[in-house]
Amino acid sequence: MKPIPILFLASLLAVSVSCTTERKPSTVGTTSEVERRVDQLLSRMTLAEKIGQMNQVSAGGEVANYADALRKGQVGSILNEVDPVKVNEFQRISVEESRLGIPLLVARDVIHGFHTIFPIPLGLASTFDPELVEAGARVASVEATGQGVRWTFSPMLDIARDPRWGRMAEGSGEDTYLDTRMAEAMVRGYQGDLSDATSIAACIKHFAGYGAAEGGRDYNSTFLTERQLRNVYLPPFEAAVKAGAMTLMTSFNDNDGVPSTGNAFLVKDVLRGEWGFDGLVVTDWNSMGEMISHGFGEDRKDVARKAMEAGVDMDMMTYGYLSHLEELVRSGAVRESDIDQAVRNILRVKILLGLFENPYVDVEAGQAVQYAPDHLAAAQKTAEESAILLKNDGVLPLDPAAVRNILVTGPLADAPHDQLGTWAFDGEAGHTVTPLRALQERFPGKVTYVPGLAYSRERRDRFDDVVAAARRSDVILVFLGEEAILSGEAHSLADLNLKGSQSELLAALKATGKPVVATVMAGRPLTIERDLPNCAAMLYAFHPGTMGGPALANLLLGDAVPSGKTPVTFLRTVGQAPLYYSHNMTGRPYNGETLLDDIPLEAGQTSLGNTSYYLDYGAYPLFPFGYGLSYTTFAYSDIALDRETYATDGTVTVSFTLSNTGTRAGTEVVQVYVRDLVGSITRPVKELKHFERVTLAPGENRALKVSIPVQELAFVGLDGVKKVEPGEFQLWVAGDSASGTGVAFNVK
Ligand code: NOJ
Repeated sequence: MKPIPILFLASLLAVSVSCTTERKPSTVGTTSEVERRVDQLLSRMTLAEKIGQMNQVSAGGEVANYADALRKGQVGSILNEVDPVKVNEFQRISVEESRLGIPLLVARDVIHGFHTIFPIPLGLASTFDPELVEAGARVASVEATGQGVRWTFSPMLDIARDPRWGRMAEGSGEDTYLDTRMAEAMVRGYQGDLSDATSIAACIKHFAGYGAAEGGRDYNSTFLTERQLRNVYLPPFEAAVKAGAMTLMTSFNDNDGVPSTGNAFLVKDVLRGEWGFDGLVVTDWNSMGEMISHGFGEDRKDVARKAMEAGVDMDMMTYGYLSHLEELVRSGAVRESDIDQAVRNILRVKILLGLFENPYVDVEAGQAVQYAPDHLAAAQKTAEESAILLKNDGVLPLDPAAVRNILVTGPLADAPHDQLGTWAFDGEAGHTVTPLRALQERFPGKVTYVPGLAYSRERRDRFDDVVAAARRSDVILVFLGEEAILSGEAHSLADLNLKGSQSELLAALKATGKPVVATVMAGRPLTIERDLPNCAAMLYAFHPGTMGGPALANLLLGDAVPSGKTPVTFLRTVGQAPLYYSHNMTGRPYNGETLLDDIPLEAGQTSLGNTSYYLDYGAYPLFPFGYGLSYTTFAYSDIALDRETYATDGTVTVSFTLSNTGTRAGTEVVQVYVRDLVGSITRPVKELKHFERVTLAPGENRALKVSIPVQELAFVGLDGVKKVEPGEFQLWVAGDSASGTGVAFNVK
């Protein structure tokens, strides 16, 4: 880790700070004590000092540049400073040189790890393993707090059903239930015991509907109805609030014409009113200012007033509050009592984090935990659980004894920065283990590396060098995909095929007749239909993080068995987007009708059918949600419900036997889906209601039971009230969203 020596040196010099880092016992106290402290402090603040708390500033360069504003109490929070010596200096000026000595909230986008980078959140979701994801969030907090960060802008809870949207990488995919479980896990992992110095405040974002950007183009408008918001997009946020999330970020998008940062319905009515959220609401970066571009406000003063009216507490980088709130209060346009409320929400977080007692980070101790061996091990295990086996004709796992000459090729084989994925600000290429390195270490002298393409977008007509090497090898491991920069914020794509000449490279490798194993690293499900026939096996790893190399080597060699499942539907072609498993039933559901290619050309133009599908691609995906193979096989049998009819306050218990029908131990992600057959509104054809990972020895049969409270089947129907509507239901227990036979039950 490059910065360490400088930091250590600086820490020795920063005497005034390091001598104050001895930790004092936290005196956070009970809820009423916290409120008393908040009120006491508030009563001593001038209007200007209150407004200062509501201002968040991006820190860069010299601390001295901010000293004046800090002394005047004009900054409540900084983001983007992770040098612990500088963080301490920021805090020292705030605590020792400002009138009231209020510490800063130091924020950072710690999205899937701090230094030790875990798989991108979409890859975290593909583990279907909330406990593991919680442990990963804990690792991120330990490392980030080790450098003074006490607030992360994570988890992102945006449901994403269009893979063109680059930020699909940052969330848990298309499903409300999976997203909800991951949201709770991440909040728990980050926040732990709040006043502990290794806990970090979570920020659930982006509130709300941001992932439904029209056309999958980032920042674009959304048009979600209130019912759609409440049934699909808001539940993960509500669950995260219940799990104790301390902060929330408003989103960039306007929904049905109202930008989120000025949306009183979302922030005041739903978040605070209905869910009782008393945490801190921050804007996204300049999303207050962008309300001017949206045409939702005339100038900064106008949008500052609108954000206040919506109930937004802190302004990230618009300086709208700092510049105009005082004037708005004086003119009567904004009530000082509303400002007091916002400041309470900010101070409460600072008190709960124990910042008043312990504003400083222990620089030396903090450095010692970065890239700790158990952090790297956790990142590797997560990457192993995250990879999805999409195809295997039997070539995997490779037999290490039989491998004499391996060709490693492809633009992602040795791309240490890119395998970290998007939002890996603090991850370092120098600490990343690529598949090439891991395989070279595993098979000294047996690996030939010919990149084929230097980067994913490179175009080449001929692959003579790769093909010649392929002919000399007994197995070809090709690493394809997209670089980190091709997904994430502002990085949407209209074409989701493998870029450049990657498909041609794969075809050339296949033509050698040698077994080709493809591994794809990407920020989204790419459209790989045309590539599947050109490989004997395909592992889909998303961007696997720091330890992606050893994780993939273990999977390829069978030391780990694939268990990841698709957290999003994989499309055949981008024109199918958005396509997701839990769609509503149309009046004319597709039933596998004839496609254009099935009609002989001589037949000329002919009508093909009258159902809801694309004439050229039908309406089925390449891989459904929840799909993934293993090195063994599983079977479900004896699926039975404990009753035929349930009360609305009852619990559905389904029993079944899961069998490992193969010859290796493996882990299956058991999934339970439910369909509500008739509702006051049309209902999704299936909705995930439970999942769990079950590990079985070869040949093992295990009797299992899953219980689902009937209340989990509640939804917002025609009358706008969330409740269970009695009637007929169907339930599936299966290994993915497209398999299994439904069993029927009733709710009375
Ligand atoms: C903009 C992004 O939308 C948000 O997710 C992020 O947390 C902020 N910038 C801060 O970097």
